[in-house]
Amino acid sequence: METAEFETDLSLFKYDNLEQLPPAYRELEEDERTERIEAALETLSDDVVILGHNYQRREIVDHADFVGDSYQLSVEAAESDADYVIFGGVTFMAESADIITDDDQSVILPSMEASCPMAGMAEALQVDAAWAELTAETDETIVPITYMNSYADLKAFCAEQGGLVCTSSNAHEAFEYAFERGDKVLFLPDKHLGENTAHRLGIEDETVEWDPWNPEGTDAAAAVENDVILWEGYCQVHERFGADHVEAIREEDSDANVIVHPECRREVVEAADVVGSTATICETVENADPGETWAIGTEIHLTQHLQRWHPEVDVIPLCGDACMDCNAMRQIDPNYLTWVLEELVAGRERNVVEVAPQEKELAQVALDRMLEI
Ligand code: 13P
Ligand code: SF4
Repeated sequence: METAEFETDLSLFKYDNLEQLPPAYRELEEDERTERIEAALETLSDDVVILGHNYQRREIVDHADFVGDSYQLSVEAAESDADYVIFGGVTFMAESADIITDDDQSVILPSMEASCPMAGMAEALQVDAAWAELTAETDETIVPITYMNSYADLKAFCAEQGGLVCTSSNAHEAFEYAFERGDKVLFLPDKHLGENTAHRLGIEDETVEWDPWNPEGTDAAAAVENDVILWEGYCQVHERFGADHVEAIREEDSDANVIVHPECRREVVEAADVVGSTATICETVENADPGETWAIGTEIHLTQHLQRWHPEVDVIPLCGDACMDCNAMRQIDPNYLTWVLEELVAGRERNVVEVAPQEKELAQVALDRMLEI
């Protein structure tokens, strides 16, 4: 298959908010920045660990001590004894790291602008109201599961109601945990991950969407007739993939393999050869035979990393030149990383993410349940 070199100019799509950054850090060139980051890391030594999500830019991933998916990063955070955990990721990940780490460790998010829109689609207050409506309509037990991509107060809510957190790599285990303890699942906030997981477990006709923005259209009595209630949230990046992208790849090269993230729509997941978290996507490409073609349906930075890390495999983006760029992840500009590290060297902690103590304890229960399944 003839594949175009991946040349999309990501800067065309770029929206970085550098305003929180002192002016002297806004225009750093890569060579100088790399030198300064390395110098700061040498001084800080074991006091600092940098965790980088697979969707982070090359300049962040290159400096990370550990790169992985949401689940792997939460395990790394739990196991780290560094004083400072610098999180190359988004707010909910840094919050989770703060919950999991000891009280004397600080979690630093280089830019406070890095907020996942999906996490904002299920606010604890809204969920509270929906919960009251749903539980009033049934005597059966509903177990709430929240995707990691949610804020600490929602994680705390799930713990309080006997539920737990999951990531894309353990959602089916979380469903099993819930059905062992209850009759129904309320899955938040990603309807696609919830639906894909329900299908994987054979619960195909027993799912319903709950749209908190359309209260008239959502009937609680009808909703609780179903086994799985899916909150109407989604990832703006993964929702852009369509089954037509998979068809186009297959038409061009019938030998091409397609792997997608489970945040993609049901029809995309059904059309793909493999579905899995970003760690599964990495492992699949790592284990591919040289010369194989893999079309990747996820955030574009990971596709680019895989192209660099595995030049022997033909790694292509699932939707050609369309730019599947997560603007929340992009906010972790390497200049911000330079700033927070140099501030630590100067004895100042910047952008520390701290979960309120009343939420922390319960949210930890929900995360611990996940780490145990
Ligand atoms: P994973 O790394 O867990 O697959 O999650 C993807 C994602 O969208 C994180 O925001
Ligand atoms: Fe959120 Fe989607 Fe970005 Fe992940 S890729 S951080 S779910 S917007």
